[in-house]
Amino acid sequence: MQSIRTAIIGAGFMGPTHTEALRRLGIEVAGILGVDEAESTKAAQKLGLPRAYLSYTEVLKDKNVHAVHITTPNRLHFQMARDALKAGKHVLCEKPLAMNTRETAALVDLAKKSKLAACVNYNLRYYPLCMEAREMVQENRLGKVHSIVGSYVQDWLLYQTDYNWRILAEEGGSLRAIADIGTHWLDMVQYITGLRVVALCADLLTIFPIRKRPKGEVESFSGKVQKIQATEDITVNTEDGGAILLRFDNGAKGTLFVSQISAGRKNCLRWEISGSKSGAYWDSETPNEMWLGYRDKPNEKLIKDPGLLSEAVRPYVSYPGGHNEGYPDTFKQCFKAFYAYIAKGDYKAKPTFPTFLDGHRELALCEAIAKSNKKNSWVTVE
Ligand SMILES: NC(=O)c1ccc[n+]([C@@H]2O[C@H](COP(=O)([O-])OP(=O)(O)OC[C@H]3O[C@@H](n4cnc5c(N)ncnc54)[C@H](O)[C@@H]3O)[C@@H](O)[C@H]2O)c1
Repeated sequence: MQSIRTAIIGAGFMGPTHTEALRRLGIEVAGILGVDEAESTKAAQKLGLPRAYLSYTEVLKDKNVHAVHITTPNRLHFQMARDALKAGKHVLCEKPLAMNTRETAALVDLAKKSKLAACVNYNLRYYPLCMEAREMVQENRLGKVHSIVGSYVQDWLLYQTDYNWRILAEEGGSLRAIADIGTHWLDMVQYITGLRVVALCADLLTIFPIRKRPKGEVESFSGKVQKIQATEDITVNTEDGGAILLRFDNGAKGTLFVSQISAGRKNCLRWEISGSKSGAYWDSETPNEMWLGYRDKPNEKLIKDPGLLSEAVRPYVSYPGGHNEGYPDTFKQCFKAFYAYIAKGDYKAKPTFPTFLDGHRELALCEAIAKSNKKNSWVTVE
């Protein structure tokens, strides 16, 4: 695994996050590409990387590089992933995989033909207790799943002067909060339960039809600390959040609330799964504990301790109980699955990491959500 070299594309929030996780695995990062020479150079220096690439073509031509991590704004994912696969590089692409299902379908097809590893970074699956919940479902410890409810809420876009490229449909896609964070939740609950959303009814919300964009550079998530000097009005064509009713393929019902305007909620993904035998509840802001609910005996709190988790989950846990693991560890575990697969070289084997097909399914859900919101009615997921 350690003989595979990789390059990072994008130098904002995710570029350094990916770099750090790769280093913890001993994967060599050959270099980084930013939006221009200045950003590439600054990022390479800051991260201590040997090379600052000058263009994407240069990365794809680099024979030392076997894989690329695409951490640029969503608009660029399709073209970059496509070109990397065509150049014979393995691809780990940030979510959402692309802007629409036409693009994601083409990527699924290309990945299948290419005999290369292709992962979409639904890293949050790799919280150990979420993996434990999956084991519990598989071992029928919850019984038949009746309902899945939850939310993914943040507050970083609460004020009218909060701005990021994600606000613009042309940069991030026509759905913003849903594609950005809602798809993490949808991926996670479907991964845990093995169920699929087959129909849904969505009611989306945009609180500011006009936002006041600060003039000059705005880094992702920096709005809370950046001093705003002057602003310009921009028309908002994406949602701040919304409520979605869900129907799963076993008949289970669910609800999801997504928001980037919920004061005090920094990055809070919650789910509660109720089955015929027991229930489970988890919150990403306290990720090292999971509530287990029973009808006929006292409820329990399971903590992340390899000694208390299933054997199948232990390889995804790096620290003993009481030593908390969190968000950065999910990247490490996801990348470990991806690089172990490449190292093995059996591309007929079923990947354990989230694939481009998972990325495609998430876009299909996004399109169903947009359609339902527009029609004001239930729609089936295609
Ligand atoms: N998996 C997760 O938990 C998670 C969290 C945050 C963001 N993301 C995803 O990661 C991606 C990036 O988000 P971010 O928050 O890091 O954004 P960001 O704005 O912080 O970073 C984007 C970077 O891409 C660079 N860039 C833009 N155009 C480029 C080009 N043509 N070539 C090279 N670099 C270019 C920008 O200059 C910037 O450095 C998005 O798709 C987002 O959805 C995933």
